[in-house]
Amino acid sequence: MKGKRIILGVSGGIAAYKTPQLVRLLKKAGADVRIALTASGSRFVSELALATVSGESVCREMFPPADQPGTDFTRHISLGEWADALVIAPATANTLARLAVGMCDDMLSACFITLRPHKPVLIFPAMDGQMYRSPAVQRNIATLAAQGCTIIEPETGDLASGQCGTGRMPEPEIIAGRIGAALQKSATGSPLSGRTVVVTAGPTREKIDGVRFISNYSSGKMGFALAEAARERGAEVTLITGPVNLETPGGVERLDVENACEMYEAAKPFYSTCAVFIAAAAVADYRPETPHEGKLKKNSPEMQLKLVRNPDILADFGARKRPGQLAVGFALETGEGIAYARCKLQEKNLDLVAFNTFDRKTSGFEVDTNALTLIDRNHMETVLPLMPKKEAARRLLDHVELLMGDPAANMTTEK
Ligand code: C5P
Repeated sequence: MKGKRIILGVSGGIAAYKTPQLVRLLKKAGADVRIALTASGSRFVSELALATVSGESVCREMFPPADQPGTDFTRHISLGEWADALVIAPATANTLARLAVGMCDDMLSACFITLRPHKPVLIFPAMDGQMYRSPAVQRNIATLAAQGCTIIEPETGDLASGQCGTGRMPEPEIIAGRIGAALQKSATGSPLSGRTVVVTAGPTREKIDGVRFISNYSSGKMGFALAEAARERGAEVTLITGPVNLETPGGVERLDVENACEMYEAAKPFYSTCAVFIAAAAVADYRPETPHEGKLKKNSPEMQLKLVRNPDILADFGARKRPGQLAVGFALETGEGIAYARCKLQEKNLDLVAFNTFDRKTSGFEVDTNALTLIDRNHMETVLPLMPKKEAARRLLDHVELLMGDPAANMTTEK
């Protein structure tokens, strides 16, 4: 973000109180930040606070006083031309509507209109959950998205109304991360664009008899989020999934499998062709040796199941991967397991491993959020805070993109 010029548009929602912190983060990352504050925005956050953290006077009035020497009388044009990106956070229902119809009566809307073409516009809608779901707001969001703006869906949680719903603005750290990624992409284009990415997701079911199986709590949400995020970056994505209850992300090819052996057979044809293989599936390590045909009867006090090892899909890919291909795995542990995750990186010849713990409340299986620690082949460890799985997927792909641009990629072991 160093040297990047960002306009932060702040409109009048309660989340505006978080924007001085966002400005601090952007400044710390080396960005030059100017603020376009709407009249309602100034009711929620003080102009002085924003001016102090940005080191610049805040732009509010469209029409500057006519009698002050040195005034830029056309700053409603020059500011938009100056910027590398426009970020609107929070974007209220009113601001979304005004931008969607092309109003131009304050500095924020003027910047939106005068921003040079192809510069990223990131919009973070934030409002009451019911307002967010309303047809009018959704229509305006669709209009802005069709113009090429990136709309970042608000988070679900406690709202100012005291209700719980979707409408919360993401935390400043997450917003700053999205801005960094958008600027990087606009400068270079995503290295994933046009490349083949294979993602395994969900649990496997290993048949015991005609009606029972061995499985785990995996919901597939992390893998599906990764497939969606890779697709957003222009990758050709194949998603190989065990039984889950999720909709296929748009533009993603989906292959449904039941057990580990089927997942292995479905993945193999991609080994030689894919650029990135991401194993997010919770594959059962063992399967019953000989599944019973019909339903097993309970006619003895004990029963023993003989289990045999399943193929390790990721280890198999890692062992055969060619120079330039990337293998990414997950290490889900119930306690302290980071040392185990580091070993897995070596043993399976991975480029990146995402370590996460499992508590069934905030991270790991089933839930919508995850806290990942990314460990890469250069021993770099990145601890990500708890965040929605969709965001965690983007952060993981940011790291994959970094590794794709790393010359050491061509030195990965070929076996
Ligand atoms: O060895 P462990 O099961 O802990 O490794 C987990 C990682 O390996 C995950 O990325 C998982 O998708 C992958 N894996 C696999 N095939 C298996 C077991 C795990 O691809 N049979």
